[in-house]
Amino acid sequence: MRDRPIRLGVNIDHVATLRQARREGVPDILEAAEAAMKGGADGITMHLREDRRHVQDEDLPRIASRFPLNLEMAATEEMTKIALKDPLPVSACLVPERREELTTEGGLDVAGNCERIATVVRTLKGAGIRVSLFIDPDPIQVEAAASVNADAVELHTGRYARTPNEAEREVLRESAAATVAAGLHLHAGHGLDLNNVGFVAALPDLEELNIGFSIVARAVFVGLEEAVREMRRAIDAAEEAAE
Ligand code: PXP
Repeated sequence: MRDRPIRLGVNIDHVATLRQARREGVPDILEAAEAAMKGGADGITMHLREDRRHVQDEDLPRIASRFPLNLEMAATEEMTKIALKDPLPVSACLVPERREELTTEGGLDVAGNCERIATVVRTLKGAGIRVSLFIDPDPIQVEAAASVNADAVELHTGRYARTPNEAEREVLRESAAATVAAGLHLHAGHGLDLNNVGFVAALPDLEELNIGFSIVARAVFVGLEEAVREMRRAIDAAEEAAE
């Protein structure tokens, strides 16, 4: 099922965070996307948050017209309308959203909101957009993701990233296996950096990783293109070692 090598979606939200600190248009997200693609990204990931704290509405067509865009979005009517505007993102990842959180802190409760999520999944897929659901590694949520007809799940790796012990690794292994057994494509992301990405990249059948903060933080010192290249190498090395 794996489409080798693992696809790397580089999340450039925090380039936009820096831009919004002064609102002078720099650093430009298009230049960031170009550098990320040169460094080995397969696509660009952006989260248009309800409070527009980093990415702005007008950023989406600028990126989607040039690069494969994975749009992270809340499963709301407002965001669905935006996702359906031309040029379309290649894929959308439905995420939970709370205004007060610093980042997406937990996974989407698909099991508790099946009907609403199924409607958004159907609408986006109807427009030809691939849909993944960002869920905690929990077999109940994996089963729910399959029941609403998602194409993929993105397993939230935040807890593993904070505490990369054997218990958290086992939780990820189990949900990764459940995802593949349910016939869903397997993606993962959140909190991944050069030190912890190896285990996740070596999960059997993993097809895509979405990584942002650590790459943008590293880019301050080595530049964005090189920071992406370093991550690409770490992923490739882990994947090769796992074969
Ligand atoms: N995947 C999803 C669904 C996310 O919401 C985020 C954070 O925006 C990421 C991946 C990337 O996480 P990080 O910035 O910690 O690498």
